[in-house]
Amino acid sequence: MADFLSGYSIQNWLESCPQGYLEGTVYGHKPGEQEIELLKTNPVLHEDAIRTTVQLVVGERAALAASSGLINSAPDEASKRFLATQTLDEARHVEIFTQRLYDLGVRKEDLESTIARFANPNLVKFAGVLLEKVDKKDFVAGVVGQNIVLEGMAFSVFEMMYALNEPMNPKFAQTLSGTIADERRHVGFGENRIGSLLKEHPERKPDIEKMQKDMSYFMLATFADAFGETRAVDELERIGQERSHAQFHGADLGAMDPKEMEDLLAATVLKEFKTRLGRLGLQYQTPARP
Ligand SMILES: [Fe+2]
Ligand SMILES: [Fe+2]
Repeated sequence: MADFLSGYSIQNWLESCPQGYLEGTVYGHKPGEQEIELLKTNPVLHEDAIRTTVQLVVGERAALAASSGLINSAPDEASKRFLATQTLDEARHVEIFTQRLYDLGVRKEDLESTIARFANPNLVKFAGVLLEKVDKKDFVAGVVGQNIVLEGMAFSVFEMMYALNEPMNPKFAQTLSGTIADERRHVGFGENRIGSLLKEHPERKPDIEKMQKDMSYFMLATFADAFGETRAVDELERIGQERSHAQFHGADLGAMDPKEMEDLLAATVLKEFKTRLGRLGLQYQTPARP
């Protein structure tokens, strides 16, 4: 075990992350970079940016609670140390996305009420399924829920957001790209650690598959809400702002309506789930479509 987890040491984390791609950054981006003016001055785009960022804070707060909560139920020392690095990564993600809310003009005293107002109830339920496993000190289910399901979802969501923001908003795009690099490491740990644990405990599989199905249901419901609520595409058209033709998995996001983007994102994440779970010997369970 020591071998396949050696890439996940604190030393490696220091070299690749704080001394690597985060070196010289301030809240995940180049010093002095600003949010784009349009997001602050156009009321529709402003609210849309705040609502989206709130979901990132909610998701990252769940990841922080899960990764820190799993440290004491981890069966080996190398996993505990990795989860300590992940805990700091997730705390950083909470901080940088909270900072983005401030950069968008949310006042510090209004942070919690803004989060409560915009947090998607289905995303809160998605996190609840995971945190219940963590609270029960169920390490195997907790790591599948966190490092495969939550982070598999986050990974694709961040990649789509990166594609959409990269042409116009270098500040937010760089914040996202550092987060994507972190999530890639977290998903890698999940796959490496859980494969061997599931071989030792095959009897745990049905329960974990049920959790994945429940989490996937709330994830799809979250996507349906998020893309159903957004008015950004209509607003850009109304004000005559050309959309950027960002590519995501071979599709032109600049030519898609929100429903098409939702379907593409859902299909991308579910395909990833099937592949990753399959590699772990878990059977992907199809949730009911919300
Ligand atoms: Fe994260
Ligand atoms: Fe993560």
